[in-house]
Amino acid sequence: MPCVHAGLPIRSWTPSTVRDLNGDMGKHDGKRALVTGGSNGIGLSIARLLAAEGARVIVTGRTEAALETASEEGLIAVRSDATAKADIDSLAGKVAETFGQLDAVFLNAGITDMVSFEATTEQIYDAIFATNTKGAYFTLQRLLPLLAEGSGVVLTTSVVNQLGQQDLGVYSASKAALRSMARTWARELLPRGVRVNAVSPGPIDTGILAKKLPPEAADEMLAGLTAQVPMQRLGTPEEVARAAVFLAFDATYTTGAELAVDGGGTQL
Ligand SMILES: NC(=O)c1ccc[n+]([C@@H]2O[C@H](COP(=O)([O-])OP(=O)(O)OC[C@H]3O[C@@H](n4cnc5c(N)ncnc54)[C@H](OP(=O)(O)O)[C@@H]3O)[C@@H](O)[C@H]2O)c1
Repeated sequence: MPCVHAGLPIRSWTPSTVRDLNGDMGKHDGKRALVTGGSNGIGLSIARLLAAEGARVIVTGRTEAALETASEEGLIAVRSDATAKADIDSLAGKVAETFGQLDAVFLNAGITDMVSFEATTEQIYDAIFATNTKGAYFTLQRLLPLLAEGSGVVLTTSVVNQLGQQDLGVYSASKAALRSMARTWARELLPRGVRVNAVSPGPIDTGILAKKLPPEAADEMLAGLTAQVPMQRLGTPEEVARAAVFLAFDATYTTGAELAVDGGGTQL
């Protein structure tokens, strides 16, 4: 049974649907936001929601085709690899030139790999930490001078940062490190009025989960994940986007926190 809101399946939401449903058009008029990994999946949904509510949004990613599609939707797409210092520097330059300052930063770019402890290579370990943890760390460090007073930073972590999931050891550790950074950054940026929070998705239907598996194994894995969720379904990227945008702009008395969007998976 697809999840519906006002008779519309959530998966079919577009920016204009969001406007029609909640009358939030203009809610973020004039706001300037950056979404890393905003060319696909959860990041793209965050960017679309922000744009639908009036914000100007820069999205990043590495794949040209996805960036072009994002740009056709009116998002400002920048090819930028979160693991490359030169790319982070030029991204900061682009942000400064386009917006001057930022009101919201979504550190969302991430990769995963399902591999057992025994089979994990140094290359897999380094690739996951380079994007999910080190990439987020040095991106925010480089953007610090551009954060407007009162701005919001939101990190995309994961429910697995507090679970012991089979074959997800490195990924889970990379997100646990990120969760820890959210706390420290929240403390260190307090004097500037910048809030730092994390949104922690459970299994969300974006394709990332099954990316490295053959189709049959992917179906089996997704069915297994669905069965473990108390709500008995995968989440949608739009549901994570709503929580992330709430943390960035509306959660004005919240910092250092992590909000689970997981169908009850870590609570019930
Ligand atoms: N889907 C889930 O079930 C789930 C659950 C918990 C947490 N998360 C987290 O949510 C975030 C988004 O995941 P998703 O499901 O939306 O995945 P996705 O659809 O694969 O999107 C990932 C995004 O990150 C970008 N990206 C990856 N590596 C990058 C790099 N080195 N530099 C810049 N951009 C990079 C990708 O673009 P390119 O590949 O073109 O670079 C893409 O735009 C990730 O941090 C993920 O760990 C997802």
